[in-house]
Amino acid sequence: MSLRSLPATTDRRIDVLLALLADNAMIVISGAKIARQIGVTRWTVWRWIEKLRSLGVKVKGHPRTGYQIEKVPDVLVPSMIRRRLHNSPFARRIYHFFKVDSTNTVAMHLGYEDELHGTIVLAEEQTAGRGRVGRSWHSEKTSGIYMSVLLRPPMGPAEAPLITLLAGLAAHDAVVEQVGLRPDLRWPNDLLLNGKKFCGILTEMHAEPDHVHFVIVGLGINVNHTRMPEELLGMATSLRMETARPHSRLELLVRLLRCLERYYNQFMAEGAPPILARFTEVSSYARGKRVRISTANETYVGTTAGLEPNGLLRVEREDGRTQVVISGDLAEAP
Ligand code: BTN
Repeated sequence: MSLRSLPATTDRRIDVLLALLADNAMIVISGAKIARQIGVTRWTVWRWIEKLRSLGVKVKGHPRTGYQIEKVPDVLVPSMIRRRLHNSPFARRIYHFFKVDSTNTVAMHLGYEDELHGTIVLAEEQTAGRGRVGRSWHSEKTSGIYMSVLLRPPMGPAEAPLITLLAGLAAHDAVVEQVGLRPDLRWPNDLLLNGKKFCGILTEMHAEPDHVHFVIVGLGINVNHTRMPEELLGMATSLRMETARPHSRLELLVRLLRCLERYYNQFMAEGAPPILARFTEVSSYARGKRVRISTANETYVGTTAGLEPNGLLRVEREDGRTQVVISGDLAEAP
């Protein structure tokens, strides 16, 4: 897929319309004025307002009376993010989709097209959200954060697990700051509340044996889901389900990107040790946890025994052998 054949990103003028409404919250702006400022017809303005309404943005009024919103809408369009991130590398290139198959798939293509370090891809809804080991990621419209970040870290592929760990730490800190809950981190990439998963990370990369061209870090966070599909019951949750109140996706996303920038810069400056130390501090799975590990070839039980310098997990197996886990599913074992 070349850039030309990428699915259509959100029309930048819808982004401008939303910013205009947000900047004038509580004020009625006439459809004609909006149309003039954006350079489209009043009919197009009305069509776009309907689109925003379908995403849950509460816009009052109609073409004759003018339009008004009551609070800053919780839609993850670039202008709303950029104005909060100032000079961040994550504010330079933001691709937003109302609906796309998978933000990771789009970001991978952008990576091959030489797109910049720090580019982010966001969707309000994914029709084929991807999880680890071929699973799908439930991506309900406007309920979650579905984001992929394109990074070009100057490192070899053996260090890539550290990028997953630091992304998990960023999501952890953002949730602590905004929601006040302390999630657990299940190595390598799950965030849990009360034992149920609400955030997953899918890291994909394009690399040579000694050099990474780019890494895509895909994060899915269940924010405002009010229920989970039957097949995820008992395993998955959302921030809203845990706290019985809705949360601003926009604020959480901005915090997440700030934390990601901080951890990434720290990793570049100081290497792995602070990332490993912080992960060990906040994850009950890093050390001393009895776990069942399922890989493509086998399932075994053991006790976690800390992280390797490159972020892989050490496990003391029940049969006495020490194993370094490269990939696999971890579950708490009785
Ligand atoms: C997992 O826990 O299995 C990883 C889930 C990762 C889901 C996110 S949502 C945004 C990005 N796009 C995708 O298709 N997947 C990741």
